[in-house]
This record gives sequence, structure tokens and C-alpha cells, in this order.
Amino acid sequence: MNIILIGMPGSGKTTIGKSLALALEMDFRDLDCIIEEETGRSITDIFRESGESYFRDLEEEVCMKASLLENTVISTGGGAVLRQGGITLLKGSGKVVFLDTPVDTIMKRTDFSGRPLLKDDASRIRRLYEERISLYRSYADIVLDNSGNPDETLKNAVNILD
Ligand code: S3P
Repeated sequence: MNIILIGMPGSGKTTIGKSLALALEMDFRDLDCIIEEETGRSITDIFRESGESYFRDLEEEVCMKASLLENTVISTGGGAVLRQGGITLLKGSGKVVFLDTPVDTIMKRTDFSGRPLLKDDASRIRRLYEERISLYRSYADIVLDNSGNPDETLKNAVNILD
């Protein structure tokens, strides 16, 4: 059984995911890191040189492969919900947790360098959030409110998932 974290860029998937994996004695994998390892290119370079659609193909493939993992907390990229095939297979491999972090909180906490779709632009992040919120909710088995202290979010997550 895996735990699959979905949510906006900067919502805390990697930070919460790593701590959650430690607390629950699970492995941790970040799908963006797998894409970078497998292609030898940074996410920014893939977007710049090959375009978003090419990146989404890679992302969907990695989601499909990751559905074969076991006992792993999987942090997905914020757009992993945009392609149905990959996220549906991932969902079949465990529990999907939507880390729901308000846009204002994302803006305060996040360094957006190296995140090609965002570039520190609040209105863009808000638009993405509005475009994606129904997708995040529709794939989620659990919605985890991350508007407050991240340590509290982690505690709640451990209580719910342990
Ligand atoms: C993206 C989110 C990023 C990364 C890519 C595209 C998105 O991952 O996959 O830059 O479309 O929201 P994080 O959510 O880990 O920042």
C-alpha cells in the first residue's frame, strides 16, 4: 500500500511526504526527481527545450511505473492529475492524499525558482489552483488541510494514515 501525495506546487508535498515516510516507516520517492534522474535533465530544461506536453508524457509514464512501488510515500508533481491514465493507476496502488494549502500560504512559504510554470506569480498560481482544485478533490481519498502549522498537518496525517 502506497501513500500518494497530490497538490499544488509549493503545497508541501515533499516536506510533509519525507516526514510522513519516516514516521510511518515507509520509503519516500519524489516523481519529479525520478524524471530528472531518468532523463539526466532538469524539469526546467525539459519544459524549456521540449515543451509542457512532452513533460506531461514523461510524468504520466513515471506515475504508471510508480504504481508498482510498495510501502512508499510518493510525492507527485503538481500537474500529475492532468493526465488521467497515470494518476488512476497510482490511485489503485494506495491512498491518495490531497495536501490542500491555500494560495496565500503557498506564496509565503515557497521559493519558486526552478518551477517553470510559476515564477513567483501569485495570479498564475491562483489560476492554476482554480483550474485544478476539482481534479485534486476528485482523485483524493483524503483531503489534508495544510493552512496552519505544517507540524500539525504532519501529526494529523500520521493519525489518519497510521
Ligand atoms: C508542475 C509542478 C512541479 C513540476 C513541474 C510542473 C505543475 O512539481 O512537476 O514544474 O504543473 O504544477 P511540484 O509540484 O513538485 O513543484
